[in-house]
Amino acid sequence: MIDLRSDTVTRPCAAMRAVMATAPVGDMQYGDDPSLNALEARVAELLGKEASLWLPSGTMANQVALRVLTRPGDDVLVGSEAHLVWHEAGGSAANAGVQFTEIGSGGVFSADDVRRHAKPRNQPGLPLPVTTLLQIENTQNRHGGVVFAQDQVESVCAAARALGLATYLDGARLWNASVQSGLAPARLCAPFDLVMVAFSKGLGAPAGSMLAGPRALIDSAIRYRRMFGGAMRQIGMLAAACDYALTHNLARLADDHANARMVAERLAACPGVKIRLEHLHTNIVVWELDGARLKPADLVALARAQGVLITALGAAKLRLVTHLDVSRADCARAGDVLAQLLGG
Ligand SMILES: Cc1ncc(COP(=O)(O)O)c(C=O)c1O
Repeated sequence: MIDLRSDTVTRPCAAMRAVMATAPVGDMQYGDDPSLNALEARVAELLGKEASLWLPSGTMANQVALRVLTRPGDDVLVGSEAHLVWHEAGGSAANAGVQFTEIGSGGVFSADDVRRHAKPRNQPGLPLPVTTLLQIENTQNRHGGVVFAQDQVESVCAAARALGLATYLDGARLWNASVQSGLAPARLCAPFDLVMVAFSKGLGAPAGSMLAGPRALIDSAIRYRRMFGGAMRQIGMLAAACDYALTHNLARLADDHANARMVAERLAACPGVKIRLEHLHTNIVVWELDGARLKPADLVALARAQGVLITALGAAKLRLVTHLDVSRADCARAGDVLAQLLGG
């Protein structure tokens, strides 16, 4: 099978498994895990933040961040189709009790969008919800791995700060944004109060995310991590995998981006395929079928029968994601299979 459902499907390679097997470990909650302590220090420095904190998943990191930065009843500004809104099982309402206002289009937005949608405070006679947080997803998953241009990130965060809002980055695929833009992770994180990165996507580790920010916010996150059941013990084996992934699998993300473009260009030539190649920045290819001879679910099933796994994102959209466990030849083969099914 050529599995292009997500970059989360990668399996640890032999060298990663070897460092995991021999990693020094200790009780994380007593601060005794040397492998994790080293990783937290490395990541804090890489992201240009005072401190960082391990969490078992990106979803838990997002949920903890919401608890740290908001209060129940608050309003949070997010780009359209944010992971927080679509893919966290309603956790944001259940755990943090917040509501979302989706702004902009295609996962990106402007400083004007922020100013227009942040609810005005202290309106006499009008008990509005209080907008307290702006969240950005970079790269944006459901809109095809779009990179939020850094000058725009800086201007929307400045607008948010001027309105008294905190800023949070869902950087599950920040590494892809960094490789694509050529900007260091610390530069991409600088405008934000708190950031999240994941090791289990394109970097290929089996698990792990981190929050990074000022010590006071990380101390608050430690409490909510415990509350949500994410405080673990001998975590060094996973920390070693993440450390290996950062060292060995970061620069090669450029290969995934090139492979995604190759498949996307193949798809773009097929009848009925609507794809915005100018928005294809990284490793996620999203397209729609408009007047094509197949529905998304049919294409998924027929491709599977020929050994290619892709995802239908609802009734109209399809997605494929390239990653380190699929070679250029695999991606070329997947492009051939999809193009042939689509009559291209
Ligand atoms: C943008 C984004 N944020 C957060 C997550 C959540 O990560 P996890 O699957 O580790 O919970 C994902 C997962 O794919 C994601 O794409």
